[in-house]
Amino acid sequence: MSSLQQTLSARIQAVTGIDPELRPATKPQFGHFQSNVALRLAKQEGKPPREVASAIIDRLELADIAEPPELAGPGFINLRLKAETLASAASEQLVDDRVGVAQTDDPKVVVIDYSAPNVAKQMHVGHLRSTIIGDSLNRVLTVLGHTVIPQNHIGDWGTQFGLLVEEILAEGIDPMALDLVSAEDLYRRASERFKTDEEFARLARKRVVLLQSGDEKTLAIWRQLIEISKAAFNAVYARLGVRLNDDHLAGESSYNDDLAKVVQELENNGTAVIDQGALCVFVEGFNAPMIIRKSDGGYGYSTTDLAAIRHRVQDLHADRIIYVVGAEQSFHFDQVFAVATKAGFLPPGVSAEHVRYGLVLGEGGKRLRTREGGTMKLVDLLDAAEEKAAPAVALAAIKYADLSSGLNKDYVFDIDRMVATTGNTGPYLQYAHARTHQVLRKAEAEGIALPEKITVLDEPAEQALALLLPRLGEVVEEVAQTLQPHRLCGYLHDVAVAYSTFYEQCPVLRSEGDVRASRLALCLATQRVLATGLDLLGIQAPDRM
Ligand code: ARG
Repeated sequence: MSSLQQTLSARIQAVTGIDPELRPATKPQFGHFQSNVALRLAKQEGKPPREVASAIIDRLELADIAEPPELAGPGFINLRLKAETLASAASEQLVDDRVGVAQTDDPKVVVIDYSAPNVAKQMHVGHLRSTIIGDSLNRVLTVLGHTVIPQNHIGDWGTQFGLLVEEILAEGIDPMALDLVSAEDLYRRASERFKTDEEFARLARKRVVLLQSGDEKTLAIWRQLIEISKAAFNAVYARLGVRLNDDHLAGESSYNDDLAKVVQELENNGTAVIDQGALCVFVEGFNAPMIIRKSDGGYGYSTTDLAAIRHRVQDLHADRIIYVVGAEQSFHFDQVFAVATKAGFLPPGVSAEHVRYGLVLGEGGKRLRTREGGTMKLVDLLDAAEEKAAPAVALAAIKYADLSSGLNKDYVFDIDRMVATTGNTGPYLQYAHARTHQVLRKAEAEGIALPEKITVLDEPAEQALALLLPRLGEVVEEVAQTLQPHRLCGYLHDVAVAYSTFYEQCPVLRSEGDVRASRLALCLATQRVLATGLDLLGIQAPDRM
C-alpha cells in the first residue's frame, strides 16, 4: 500500500473503526480509490448502506489531502486525492537520491544460497533460475541496507569424483587439458564403464576413499576439475551480469572438516540415533528419517546442509538464510530446517526460507530441448535469445520472463514472446525507460531546463502515473519480505503502461509553462523509477534502444 493510500486508509478507519479496504478505482471518473466499508458496516448494523455511507462521509476529515468524498451506487465511497497531494508525493521522488526506497531501520545479516551448480557439469536451466532470482533478491535486500552474504554452494564433493578421477587415470588424460564440456563427456563414459566393468567400479569406489582421506594425486586432479568448472561458471556469471564471484564460493567440500563435529553434536544432544547401522534423525511429520551417516560411514547432501546452516549461523551470524533452489528439493529443505531446529543449529530468531521455483519448459509444456534434441544447457538458452535480440535486450527478456511469473509456477521458454517489445516483457520495460530518456533528451536539445517539481496534474493519465510513482519503496519492501520479485515486475509494468497512456494523451514538449514543466518532471520521475526498479531485477536499462 502506498503511503498516500495508508494515510487515507488510517483517516477513514478512525471514523469507521474497521479497515476501509481501499481498492484502486476501476475508472478515472470514480476517483482514485473506492471503499465498500459502508456496505459491510450496514450489514452488521442492519441499516441501509447509503445512509451509513453518508454518515461516514459527514464525519471524514480529509480536506487537506483529498477532494470531498462521493457516495456511489449502493453505498460505495469514492475518494479522490487532491492534485497537489499527488504532485508533491511524486515530486519527492525527484529530489530523493533513493527514489523513495528507504533504508531499513532494522538491518539484518542475510545469507542467500543461490546458483549452486555442480562441478564437472555444465549449468542447466534450473541453475539459471536460481542465479537470476538470487541475484535480484541480493540487490533488493542490499538496497534496503541489509548485509547480504551470497553463498554459492557448488556441488564439488561426492562419489562422482571417484568415477571422474579414475576415468581420467584410466584414459591417461591430462587433466590440465580438460574443459567443462570434455569433463562432462568424460563423466558419461565413466558411468558407462562403472556399470559394465567390475574392476573399474571397485577402483572408482576406492578412489572416493582416497579423495576423502586426502591423497595428494587424487586431490590434484579433483582441484583441476574444480578450476575448469569455476572458470566456466564465472564466464556465465559475467555474461548474465550477476553479482557472484569467487568470494562467494562455499562448496560442499568446504564443510568436510565440520561433518564429524556436526555428527558428534547430534549424537551428544540425542538428536541422532543409530537405525539399521545408519545414523539417523527422526522428526515428526516426515515419512522418512534424515540419514546423517550411512552404514558405510559416508555422509550425504543433507549432512552437508546441516553443517552449512551451523556455519551460517555461528560464523556468518546470519539472521535470515534464504535458499533459492528448485521446488523439487522442497522435502529436503523442509527436513533440513526441521532437523537443524531440533539440533539447535537454527535458533529461534534466525529464519530459514526456501524460495522454491518451478521448471522452465519447452514448447507445449514438454521438456526443454535444443533444436538438435539434446538437453538444453544454459548457454544454449542465452545463445537462442541473442539470435533474436541484442545482448542487453535478450538478457532482459530472459530475466524478466523468469522473475515476472510467480516463482512457484513452471513457465514455457517462448523466446519470441519473451523478446517482444509489447506485452508484459523485459524489453517492453526497457523501451518505456528509453522513451523517457528520448523526451528528456529532446527537451535538453531545445534548451528547456529540467524541472524538479510537479505542480499541475489535471489530466487523469497524469494523475494515474503520479499515483503509481511514489509506490516504488513499498513494493521493494514487499519483495524483501515475501521474496517474490514478480511483485516488483508487476509494479514496473503498471508504471510503463501508465507512462504509455500518459505519453499518448498528454503532449509534453508541445505543451507550455507549468504544464510542460510538470509533464517533463513526470517523465523524469518515471525514468528514475524504471531505472531503479529494473536494476533491482538485475536488468539493464539502456538510455537508447
Ligand atoms: N548443487 C545443487 C543442485 O544442483 C543445489 C544446491 C543448493 N543449495 C544447497 N544448500 N543445498 O541441485
